[in-house]
Amino acid sequence: MTAKPVEVTRYAVAGNPVAHSRSPQIHAAFAAQTGQSIHYERLLCPLDDFAATIRAFAASGAGGCNVTVPFKFEAHALAARLSPRARLAGAVNTLRFDDTTEGGWYGDNTDGAGLVRDIEANAGLPLAGKRVLLLGAGGASAGVLGSLIAARPAQLVLANRTADKAQALVESHAAWAREHGVALSACALADCPAGFDVLVNGTSASLAGSGVPVAPAVLAPGALALDMMYGPAAAPFLAWAREHGAVGRDGLGMLVEQAAEAFAVWRGVAPQTAAVLSALRAEVDAKS
Ligand code: ATR
Repeated sequence: MTAKPVEVTRYAVAGNPVAHSRSPQIHAAFAAQTGQSIHYERLLCPLDDFAATIRAFAASGAGGCNVTVPFKFEAHALAARLSPRARLAGAVNTLRFDDTTEGGWYGDNTDGAGLVRDIEANAGLPLAGKRVLLLGAGGASAGVLGSLIAARPAQLVLANRTADKAQALVESHAAWAREHGVALSACALADCPAGFDVLVNGTSASLAGSGVPVAPAVLAPGALALDMMYGPAAAPFLAWAREHGAVGRDGLGMLVEQAAEAFAVWRGVAPQTAAVLSALRAEVDAKS
């Protein structure tokens, strides 16, 4: 008697660039841990041809993909059905191909849940009642704002270089903030109030070689200062945080936690993250 072949479902991280992505390694670890038969690859999408690349991938029988910079807004437009959190964010980082053609694509956004889980479960800091400052109003911040609100901080301020963009994000989340009893407001980087318990950096200022775009007074003593990036890109922010008495944290935990959420969306199984995060942490630390 011959054993029935195990069906392997393909997934990928779709973006440009993707060569640096740690997602294949994270999802391979989740698959091994949960006994799921998946193969996870990198899908480099031409900047002007994201939709066609995803269509071809779905048509090949793949199960879904993660979506990264700069395609999260395009992925939102492509999904036929959206989770409430993806609709609120206006951005999608996880597509599930319930059908090979677009009419059956489900879009979710797991970035915010990943960030909140990293802060609350991994860093051990409950957000309820805290004062939180989120820097940036691009795709990264849009993806996490709804989940930060749902964690019910007392106050959440969104600060951005272009103040209009912060204001627009605040307006699109105003009803959600009211529902959760959160005082949500926007401000310019130079006008940030002082003394936040938690600072989250969602800007790409360090990639542009600029320093941290706010004054250190935004940090309450012992504040948690988290950069959504990791590796060398996060280093200047983490050094600044330490220098000013804050606890620095990079985006590696968020990366693993958002991946775990995406894995559950695809496979219906929630993987354990602690061992995967510490292995990745050891690798990244050894490189820097
Ligand atoms: P992502 O999808 O990674 O969030 P993005 O949508 O291009 O990328 O957004 C980048 C964010 O970093 C924006 O909030 C941007 O500010 P603007 O909206 O004013 O462009 C912010 N940013 C980039 N470089 C910056 C810098 N040197 N100082 C302050 N903010 C910066």
